[in-house]
Amino acid sequence: MGWADYLDTHQSRFVEELCEFIRIPSVSAKPENAGDVRDAGQWVVDRLVSAGMENVQLMDTAGHPVVCADWLRAGPDAPTILIYGHFDVQPAEPFELWTSPPFEPTIRGDRIYGRGATDDKGAMLIPILAAEALLAETGKLPVNVRFFFEGQEEIGSPDLPPFIEANLDRLQADMIFSADGSQWDTETPQLVLGLKGLTSLEITVQGAKSDLHSGLHGGGVANPAMALAQLLASMKSPDGRITIDGFYDDVVDLTDEDREAIAKVPWDEAAYLAQTGAPSTLGEPGFTTRENLWARPTLEVNGLTSGWQGQGTKTVLPAVASAKITCRLVANQNPEAVFDLIAAHVDAHCPPGVTAEVARNPGRADPFLVPAGHNATAVAGQVLEEVYGKAPYKTRVGGSIPVMSTLLDELGLHAVMFAFGHEDENQHAPDEFFRLPTFRRGQTAYARLMERLGE
Ligand code: BES
Ligand code: MN
Ligand code: MN
Repeated sequence: MGWADYLDTHQSRFVEELCEFIRIPSVSAKPENAGDVRDAGQWVVDRLVSAGMENVQLMDTAGHPVVCADWLRAGPDAPTILIYGHFDVQPAEPFELWTSPPFEPTIRGDRIYGRGATDDKGAMLIPILAAEALLAETGKLPVNVRFFFEGQEEIGSPDLPPFIEANLDRLQADMIFSADGSQWDTETPQLVLGLKGLTSLEITVQGAKSDLHSGLHGGGVANPAMALAQLLASMKSPDGRITIDGFYDDVVDLTDEDREAIAKVPWDEAAYLAQTGAPSTLGEPGFTTRENLWARPTLEVNGLTSGWQGQGTKTVLPAVASAKITCRLVANQNPEAVFDLIAAHVDAHCPPGVTAEVARNPGRADPFLVPAGHNATAVAGQVLEEVYGKAPYKTRVGGSIPVMSTLLDELGLHAVMFAFGHEDENQHAPDEFFRLPTFRRGQTAYARLMERLGE
């Protein structure tokens, strides 16, 4: 037998294990699930031990724990790789929109449905299984391997910078591969060369000291819901340009090469509209939709709260209105500086009759760009080409992985996203799923990557 046969023989067990992993509701955003996040970390510890990894440890941070493990017996001449992933998941609400319950994994056709199936439980299990197969079949790994899995990616990894700084010895490597990321589609690989940064905030507009009768007081005092709407409308023009003073000042312009590289990747506007169900595209004028999705900063309202949200009419003049906002950032924007610009904008544009406050929300990330000619990216590209029979597209995504820039700062290494989910797998949404054939193919790719790096 070889590792490929091992992977085939054990595939149904691996799928059952993935089900077990998904059943743990490790929602990092909800305090009541903190124990589940820890249980998921412990599950990963046990799984790494049974795969044959050494020095496997659940390690505490100021928040959710991380898991470190290694196998360093390939010798000093072999390279050391660090493999990253996350075992926490996004909240699964609204539950009623799921076809099967989010934490009761269900296989339909060749897909496994459940929260975290693709982001990132299925994906982070892949390299563990590849290592298990290599170790079982050959008694060793071709390279030195470290694993680093976290339980707080989906809330912005707030406690990772100090953890990483204090545990550099457990993370030292020559290359980093992230099992969080994605492939283009089932037949086409990609190398994700850019992620966006993030800043996260909440605006609270306060009017009267409590809700009022809207007939008795309407026309007497300001309405915070209306004031918030006016404030939000002042932040973006209807054609899609962000109108916050200074917002674009630090943005590095796309070069002609950047725009050419982006335009090389096929784009089907009709398919995009069909996929999203939106009636038309809308983004910053002067850029293609793809450029806006991948390489221009954005400002999005993620949640709006005020007044009566139940059925029918309630004649109330709300006392408070609030909006949750995140901005996705590109080089060289800084999350804290952009927050300050928004706070200044709110101060300057607060409508009369109300007060407005801006507070940071958890979650921040620096933008992340992989430089051209990066060594580990080149190897990953060769392995993907071998496994898929096609050269990978060079892409970017609008999502963020906050720890990427921390690892770059602390270890001096750009991580390569070597991951096998797809963007259409309902990440963060109801009916999240992972393709089982991709789960299997990813295992081959990781095994080949390790072999290749050991040659
Ligand atoms: N896996 C995603 C990001 C991603 C998606 C990277 C597709 C590459 C391809 C990650 O889990 C994620 O969702 N990150 C959050 C971070 C935030 C909460 C700070 C995001 O982008 O919203
Ligand atoms: Mn993820
Ligand atoms: Mn995610």
